[in-house]
Amino acid sequence: MAELSDNVPTTTDETPLLSVKHLRKAYGDHEVLKDISFDVPRGKVFVLLGPSGSGKSTLIRCLNGLETIQGGTIEFKGKPVSGTEKEWRKLRTEIGMVFQSYDLFPNLTVAQNILLGPTKVQKRAKSEVEPQMDRLLADVQLSEYRNAYPRELSGGQKQRIAIVRALTMNPELMLFDEVTASLDPEMVREVLELMLRLAKEHMTMIVVTHEMEFARRVADTVLFLENGVILERQSGEDFFTHPATDRARSFLESMSPITDDEAK
Ligand SMILES: Nc1ncnc2c1ncn2[C@@H]1O[C@H](COP(=O)(O)OP(=O)(O)O)[C@@H](O)[C@H]1O
Ligand SMILES: [Mg+2]
Repeated sequence: MAELSDNVPTTTDETPLLSVKHLRKAYGDHEVLKDISFDVPRGKVFVLLGPSGSGKSTLIRCLNGLETIQGGTIEFKGKPVSGTEKEWRKLRTEIGMVFQSYDLFPNLTVAQNILLGPTKVQKRAKSEVEPQMDRLLADVQLSEYRNAYPRELSGGQKQRIAIVRALTMNPELMLFDEVTASLDPEMVREVLELMLRLAKEHMTMIVVTHEMEFARRVADTVLFLENGVILERQSGEDFFTHPATDRARSFLESMSPITDDEAK
């Protein structure tokens, strides 16, 4: 099978792809992210875990310029992001994002949805983008839906199209915020498998997920957030086998499947 993305890292560049330093985000007086710092090397997968309200979505949104920040810096490819809307518009072609809700335009076909960003924002020729789109659609076995409207697709298909749409922009970083959270259980796997494949192909990714088995498999690094601070920063393996804090331990227990004893 061909690679999903043409833009996976090929250099041995040591500069982190993304570097977040002392990031602060507040809504009014409510400080939601407090002094967040981390570096994401190229080709690595970071998984953000933490209880509801800990700031995971807000952090992801800050990394795509959907929220203004009140302090700290974001560097992408070694360059500080100044944060103008014009700059973010350009960066959003390099930093792809997929959300929980299916954000396809309902009045456009699958192909029109996918072609919009590359042709209108990136100003690439349709003749160049179309073969790439068709290759990706074939790759995720959705070619037959090329001219379908989003309402004709299942939730899992819509999310895979949303991922294809982001990939067609040739992003260097992909952000995923609970992309399987509103899917019926039987559709979760097809979306997770696509993300696992991207990870295997060394796409740099930051992933928020409640799927713990998936998180364990995909994470190079886990950042565990609580109340807007990074409480733990561990390799995926270490976090899941021996979390350092009681808070992370009880979080993992709360996420684990119900045992027979508990169900009685
Ligand atoms: N637009 C907003 N206005 C005010 N408060 C918000 C807004 N979005 C999120 N928050 C608050 O920020 C905190 C973190 O939320 P969020 O990032 O959604 O957490 P998570 O994704 O980890 O569940 C919560 O206390 C939430 O109520
Ligand atoms: Mg969230």
